[in-house]
Amino acid sequence: MRTQIAAANWKMNLTLQQGEALLDAIIAQPHSLNANQQAVFAVPFPYLAMAQQKLAGKQNVFVAAQNCYSKKNGAYTGETSVEMLQSLGIQYVVLGHSERREYFHESNQFLAEKVNICLEYNIRPIFCCGEPLSIREANTQNAFVAKQLEESLYHLSAEQLQQVVIAYEPIWAIGTGKTASSAQAQEMHAFIRSQLAGKYGTAVADSISILYGGSVKAANAVDIFGQPDVDGGLVGGASLVADEFVAIINALKK
Ligand code: PGA
Repeated sequence: MRTQIAAANWKMNLTLQQGEALLDAIIAQPHSLNANQQAVFAVPFPYLAMAQQKLAGKQNVFVAAQNCYSKKNGAYTGETSVEMLQSLGIQYVVLGHSERREYFHESNQFLAEKVNICLEYNIRPIFCCGEPLSIREANTQNAFVAKQLEESLYHLSAEQLQQVVIAYEPIWAIGTGKTASSAQAQEMHAFIRSQLAGKYGTAVADSISILYGGSVKAANAVDIFGQPDVDGGLVGGASLVADEFVAIINALKK
């Protein structure tokens, strides 16, 4: 069974004190993660150390950064290197979120560089892909997503690709309350897996976790995560509410 992941993406939300209280409330609630399940918290940079400390020793629970820079170190004021993240014990980084692609103009090529440096430091990228509404309306979403995968990931070896988690996040479903139907999610996830199989073979494609993102909440998580090619979710808004996120963790496939 592929690893099933409930990943929280706090984005640019919460104060330090609110973040601490949220993690405390989540930890306090009963949730059980099987060997094949993980909970990941992508928190803002200033809270990484706090989250690492609070979640230390918790089985199958990881802290993620929401971004990193593509260079090892140097005169890049305001940026955060993968080496810095590694020195904090961080094991995941969200890359290529549509908000970074849109507001910070991150291209597929630039993201390929970030993927490379993460893998060099043994940090696993949660690589986001997904189409805007205009592309969905033109029914060209498959070609759009295929190009994102090709230009950012297909230079990797099979072993490297297996360190990558993919998150499919249709932009029209992010923060809009409009979720892709579970059938739409399954259709795209199966397409992504078939593309990976075409490039790397079925065994490799079958081992890669593909998360769905876009208005996942407690009320729809069981249905979406129940799809055969959906291996969990990347969750924004609902990850800021303890009860919601605990229910989402508990909705992962066993
Ligand atoms: P949302 O965000 O759950 O608030 O739609 C998901 C994401 O952007 O990762």
